[in-house]
Amino acid sequence: MLYSEKVLDHFSNPRNVGEIEDADGIGEVGNAKCGDIMKMYLKIDNGIISDVKFKTFGCGAAVATSSMATELIKGKPIEDALKLTNKAVVEALDGLPAVKLHCSVLAEQAIKSALSDYYTRQGIDPLPIVGEISECEHCH
Ligand code: FES
Repeated sequence: MLYSEKVLDHFSNPRNVGEIEDADGIGEVGNAKCGDIMKMYLKIDNGIISDVKFKTFGCGAAVATSSMATELIKGKPIEDALKLTNKAVVEALDGLPAVKLHCSVLAEQAIKSALSDYYTRQGIDPLPIVGEISECEHCH
C-alpha cells in the first residue's frame, strides 16, 4: 500500500478545512515544484492557537499533511507551532512516499507564514522569531 491508513483517513476526511473570517494571521505559500497553493488561517488568544483552518489546491498528500498539521497545533502555544516540522507531521501520519514528501512542506511553511503575518500585525518584526520561510528543498 502506497499510503498509510492515516494518510487515507485525513485525505478523505480532512480536519479544519475552511477559512477564519477574523483570523489573527493568514499565511499563503506556493509549492515551486508542483505549483500548488496553500492558505492557512490562525486565531490566536493569549499566545495560544485557539483555532486554525486551511485551504489548499494541493494534492491528496498536501490535504492529508495539512489536516494533520492543523490538528497538531490546535490548542497549542505559538512556540510549539513554530517548532512543528514537516518531518513530525509525516511521522504522525505513519509516513509518506518519498515523491510526496515535498507536499508536506507546504503545511509547515503555511503555518510559519501565518505566524509571520500575525507578528507583523502586532507591530513585531517576525524575522527573529519565525525566521526565513525557506523554499522546499525537494522542489529545486
Ligand atoms: Fe503539489 Fe503535492 S503535488 S502539493
